[in-house]
Amino acid sequence: MALPQVVIQPQAAKRVRHHDGWIFRDELVRAPADLPAGELVEAITDGGGFAAICAFNPASHIVLRVFTTIPGDTIDRAWLARRMARAVAKRIALTGTDAKRLIFSEADGLPGLIADQYGAHLVIQIRTAGMERLRDLVVDLLQEQLQPAGILERSDKEFRQEEGLAPTAGVLRGAVPDRILIREEPWQFWVDPHRGLKTGFYLDQRLTRRKLREAVAPNQRVLDAFSYTGSLGIAAATGGARVVCVEQQEPFLELAKENAKLNGVADRMEFVAGNAFYWLDAQAKGSTRYDWVLLDPPALAKSKAAVHQGRQALHHLLVHGLRALAPEGRMLVSVCTYHLLRNLEEIVRIAAGDDDVRLTVRDQWAQASDHPWILQLPATRYLVSWVLACDAPSTA
Ligand SMILES: C[S@@+](CC[C@H](N)C(=O)[O-])C[C@H]1O[C@@H](n2cnc3c(N)ncnc32)[C@H](O)[C@@H]1O
Repeated sequence: MALPQVVIQPQAAKRVRHHDGWIFRDELVRAPADLPAGELVEAITDGGGFAAICAFNPASHIVLRVFTTIPGDTIDRAWLARRMARAVAKRIALTGTDAKRLIFSEADGLPGLIADQYGAHLVIQIRTAGMERLRDLVVDLLQEQLQPAGILERSDKEFRQEEGLAPTAGVLRGAVPDRILIREEPWQFWVDPHRGLKTGFYLDQRLTRRKLREAVAPNQRVLDAFSYTGSLGIAAATGGARVVCVEQQEPFLELAKENAKLNGVADRMEFVAGNAFYWLDAQAKGSTRYDWVLLDPPALAKSKAAVHQGRQALHHLLVHGLRALAPEGRMLVSVCTYHLLRNLEEIVRIAAGDDDVRLTVRDQWAQASDHPWILQLPATRYLVSWVLACDAPSTA
């Protein structure tokens, strides 16, 4: 059946042919009246040239999300099954863990679909109107292809608002327990898929855990300032460090304590329920100094409008984090705020200037490989981590 056609600007069509996946509202020339949100459409240029098959959503500033640029493709069960199987197959090489992202939205050519594996269970998010319409097919296919013991949906986040979708969460297939034990060698972690952040665990920080374990030395003092369920602090404690975890949500801190016990490092870890901003200020003014300060704050600016405030918050954390460092200390800073990570270099330089310290960037990396960064889709690079070292300039 022929799809409705919408007309887009030539430069948008060009971008899409070069593997960009989004068309913005101001790039839409015209669309049939009353096209419902989520409808699959053919995006063409005014001359009639085919650009892509997309999901349309007039409510979103991303008015079209590309499903395919192959003319004649049909977005049906078989097409979805192929894309999903391909995404899963790409993660087979990721071993040593039974917790990974199997489908990462646009990066896997499935705009709006997230599927994370936690042991025998799947936790999914449906983020867009286009994917919402394919929900039943997607869930059937996940069950058929992966045979999980249960599928939980966690589409209960603010990202659905802009798509005009109501938040929703619940078990869609089988059963999903309150807690799932996952393995990420050499660790095990309890995950709360129903109440945890994201889909339950920061799968995207896998590389950060590994790097920390390698970099932290026995008996070093580590401050894990936004600890959630403790994964970074536990990684540092595994290397023999003594760690203080600060987290404002007590249920997360309780899980962090259990995770510390599970991994045999509870005797080297302390847990503080509180506001990390105030805690850091107090540490900066006090006498305790840390060999490592780990800063993995939540998104500090959720929109372009909030960038200024976000910059100030990050600046504050960096300045106080630097003051809490021992001589030769290191700071790990992870930024998951798209609008800030593009300016991270400048923000860190200004913060270092405030304290008159010379900083060396010792290492940097992005999100874990099961959350691939597609060069033509800048928003898929959403998490960066830097290791900063205070370094006195040579006077020789
Ligand atoms: C990005 S997550 C940290 C993830 C963690 N590093 C991990 O790998 O599991 C940010 C955490 O900071 C917590 N948080 C947010 N604002 C906070 C504040 N002002 N003080 C302390 N914790 C805060 C959130 O509850 C969340 O658990």
